[in-house]
Amino acid sequence: MEVLRTENLTKEYGNGDNRVVALDHVSFSVEEGEFVTILGPSGSGKSTLLHLLGGVDRPTEGKVFIAGESIYDMKENKLTAFRRQKIGQVYQFYNLIPVLNVEENICLPVLLDHKKADRRFLGSLLKILKLEDRLTHLPSELSGGQQQRVAIGRAVINRPELILADEPTGNLDQKNSREIMGLFRKLNEVYGQTILLITHDRQIAKNSRRIIVIEDGKIVKEMRRQR
Ligand SMILES: Nc1ncnc2c1ncn2[C@@H]1O[C@H](COP(=O)(O)OP(=O)(O)O)[C@@H](O)[C@H]1O
Ligand SMILES: [Mg+2]
Repeated sequence: MEVLRTENLTKEYGNGDNRVVALDHVSFSVEEGEFVTILGPSGSGKSTLLHLLGGVDRPTEGKVFIAGESIYDMKENKLTAFRRQKIGQVYQFYNLIPVLNVEENICLPVLLDHKKADRRFLGSLLKILKLEDRLTHLPSELSGGQQQRVAIGRAVINRPELILADEPTGNLDQKNSREIMGLFRKLNEVYGQTILLITHDRQIAKNSRRIIVIEDGKIVKEMRRQR
């Protein structure tokens, strides 16, 4: 089953002499259960692409389908709920809520839907994230690696169709980066979680079996490999 598809996705910023084509007719799709990396140098349009896939920005041209729905054809309030339920996002700088503890941060997307977290799933997730003994800690009481693990927990708690991760190891040392990448692989293998990750780092990209290379806003190459 197709989880994500883009059709001629294009984003231009500015106009006249300042016009930048950040993304230039990008078309690709991701199947359920895939772990895909978009690899490209700084300025190649990776963050622009991820913002468009996450429904936080609007394309100049083209479409994004997630779970079969054209997200930019949705009404604003429907898109907000859709994003929360179907898309999990992980950023370079964790973006945790400072006054909420670990458990509350992870469960936030569930609480916003006025639901209760599935305790069994939460328990299994906390074990994978190795956060079982940090539940009542605040983000300020955690290391960078631990904060990113909380952010990953928050992204996955709703069992979204798709996780989008923008340079998730960009702020971490090598040891923590390896650990975080190991976690993404595990979530993909244990829960069959579909993941789309972007990075400028070849080593990081090697954690996934499918790598799409982007340069100057265009897909220039695609590689499939054994990891
Ligand atoms: N808000 C913006 N206004 C104008 N230009 C932008 C904006 N955001 C990004 N760009 C430009 O679009 C191009 C792609 O940027 P970006 O998507 O951030 O690349 P990456 O994440 O791969 O480093 C760059 O040339 C950048 O300068
Ligand atoms: Mg970027």
